[in-house]
Amino acid sequence: MAIRRFKANANDPKLMENKKKNEQEKPSHRQLQKRKILYAIVSIVIASIVIVGILIPTVVIKKNGTQPSPTTTSSSTMTTTSNMTMTTTEIDMCMILLTAVQRKVYGVHNTFVGGDSTRATPGSKRGQYSPEDSPDKACDGNVSTKYINYGSCEKMIFSDSCGLNTGFYLELARGSTLINGLKICLTGLSCPCGPTVVSLEGSNMTGTDLTLGSSWTLLYHGTSGLSDDPGRQKCGSLQHFNNTIAYTSYRFLVLAKNAGEVLVEYSEVQLYSF
Ligand SMILES: *[C@@H]1O[C@H](CO)[C@@H](O)[C@H](O)[C@H]1NC(C)=O
Ligand SMILES: *[C@@H]1O[C@H](CO)[C@@H](O)[C@H](O)[C@H]1NC(C)=O
Ligand SMILES: *[C@@H]1O[C@H](CO)[C@@H](O)[C@H](O)[C@H]1NC(C)=O
Ligand SMILES: *[C@@H]1O[C@H](CO)[C@@H](O)[C@H](O)[C@H]1NC(C)=O
Repeated sequence: MAIRRFKANANDPKLMENKKKNEQEKPSHRQLQKRKILYAIVSIVIASIVIVGILIPTVVIKKNGTQPSPTTTSSSTMTTTSNMTMTTTEIDMCMILLTAVQRKVYGVHNTFVGGDSTRATPGSKRGQYSPEDSPDKACDGNVSTKYINYGSCEKMIFSDSCGLNTGFYLELARGSTLINGLKICLTGLSCPCGPTVVSLEGSNMTGTDLTLGSSWTLLYHGTSGLSDDPGRQKCGSLQHFNNTIAYTSYRFLVLAKNAGEVLVEYSEVQLYSF
């Protein structure tokens, strides 16, 4: 019986029309007011988004303009302005941007921990580095670029010693900096051609004095952190070391590589200050 009555009601066209009218007319005033309030809220939200969207890039551009030599990536603005291929999460708060004095990063070969630096030049012969893969590419924050030094070999001449005892040094534009961690990043090649053992030395000297082995103090000599292959254009594990003295210059050397590999290449050396 109940079902039948419901059906009769539902099928009654007059009843249905009245219901519709009631539904449409009664709440219309309230709905209008609600809509007005909603419009107001939506407009305010959109306006805020537009203002924030214009303000933030302007502030970032201004900051860029007034900061010619970048410091650490420790502030949130630096994280957004350092427009590198690394994602924001990959940029560690403690990573030091390796901007060199006069943007000069010096390649070296036949160079040993504590020993004098032998300058490497661009070219394809013994003791040279690939002109397009220059030492500054290891410090540019871009894992798409790389540094290849042939060391005791020449381009297309391969041996177990190629690329060993090579590296680079630079004077940090930001000045005296405490470094107590490093990471090395691989290139786009699939071979395990990254270094396996590396060293980092620090110095407070400048200019040609940096070619002297006596100017350098050893801070780290050990694994590169690449033994668990991180993958192409990815960085190895962080090597943390105990250092409490700040230096203005740093020298990085490759001391060993995987057996059978005929060259050494890496995309980045990242230095950290904790
Ligand atoms: C930032 O990087 C993007 C792509 O990653 C590029 O299109 C853009 O030009 C870069 N901007 C600056 C200021 O370098
Ligand atoms: C990184 O290097 C690659 C290859 O040279 C280049 O195409 C790209 O624009 C560079 N990215 C940045 C952010 O400079
Ligand atoms: C650093 O020093 C601490 C305390 O002196 C020690 O426990 C730790 O093993 C040291 N780390 C390295 C890498 O030498
Ligand atoms: C290098 O300079 C820094 C800062 O002036 C100083 O703290 C540190 O002791 C110096 N290092 C050496 C080995 O003289």
